[in-house]
Amino acid sequence: MKKAINISRQIQKDGAEKEFKTNQLSQNNGSYPTKRLRRLRSSPFLRDIIAETSVSKDDLIYPIFVEENLQERSPIQSMPGIFRESEKSLEIKLKEMRDEGLKSVMLFGVSHNKDSIGSDSLKPGGLLDRMVSRAKNTCPELVVMADLCFCEYTDHGHCGTLQDDGDVDNDRTLDNLAQQAIIAANAGADIVAPSGMMDGMVAAIRQALDQDGHTNTCIVSYSAKYASHFYGPFRDAAGCSLGHQQHCLSDRKTYQMDPGNRQEALREVALDIEEGTDMIIVKPGLPYLDVIREVKDNFNIPTLAYNVSGEYAMIKLAAASGCLDLENAVMELLTCFKRAGADAILTYFALDVAKTMNKYNQS
Ligand code: PBG
Repeated sequence: MKKAINISRQIQKDGAEKEFKTNQLSQNNGSYPTKRLRRLRSSPFLRDIIAETSVSKDDLIYPIFVEENLQERSPIQSMPGIFRESEKSLEIKLKEMRDEGLKSVMLFGVSHNKDSIGSDSLKPGGLLDRMVSRAKNTCPELVVMADLCFCEYTDHGHCGTLQDDGDVDNDRTLDNLAQQAIIAANAGADIVAPSGMMDGMVAAIRQALDQDGHTNTCIVSYSAKYASHFYGPFRDAAGCSLGHQQHCLSDRKTYQMDPGNRQEALREVALDIEEGTDMIIVKPGLPYLDVIREVKDNFNIPTLAYNVSGEYAMIKLAAASGCLDLENAVMELLTCFKRAGADAILTYFALDVAKTMNKYNQS
């Protein structure tokens, strides 16, 4: 390898030597024409045998929005094909995904009972409690993940309780997150997924769950979550945009990470592992494949990629305007998440992909 690099540097230095060096390279390495990598690509079956990465329905986690006080499910404009489900239509959706062979769902509440701390999500009988119970009662075999955060339940839209200066109060939010985790676990959540990027959130939740007897409830922490513009459609969908109130900060940069930071992601993951997370999420997914790879190479922990709402929207809209072939582009996208090291993918495409796989009789 070193030799090849040295030779190519020399080639750069002296253009006149180019042809000679290239010949020397192939002869010295016993390479082309005897070595031909195209041989292994010559038929579909052969390509299948040497395929390094595959995607199956087991790899896909389906996020669902559940809105209270809704008569009928309502379409989300910025995410064609995705709906805010009513508490009733949630049941239909869950049965559909189970029947198509999906195994796991991530639930997001769309609240109509918001206040400054998101107290609805802390109450037995609140939306978080109701939607998780309903999911677990409808399809007990599904792995039910509950997003733990306050942005869907606060009137200001931030991911926690605010201090006087308008920033999120980390430690008070931890107390509330611990309560939220108990509500979700009591309702039957198999996994809780804290997504607010508060320091110490995994430790606070693990301690609360264990004290309450929920030693088997898993935690999947959104450990490396960036302050991203790719969440735009989600914020429309969940009604958690910022800026409704003057005194709060207009972005989430004091808790979500700077998109340019790579090493910080590793520090976040290391801390969450120390605090006891069972799995971690990197989010967004598509522009952050390098972070997934690096996390996977550095830590021995199941790693999920979140293929977020903005990534979904851009592919759907490109396909709708005829620029992309939807089915093939999505399969390529999911394969690339797996190639980058993701063990599973949270994706709004999950149900459609499962249907496509069933159509072609894949597992
Ligand atoms: C909120 C949360 C967000 C998403 C998942 N959980 C939004 C945010 O942090 O602003 C984004 C998901 C997506 O865009 O698909 N805790």
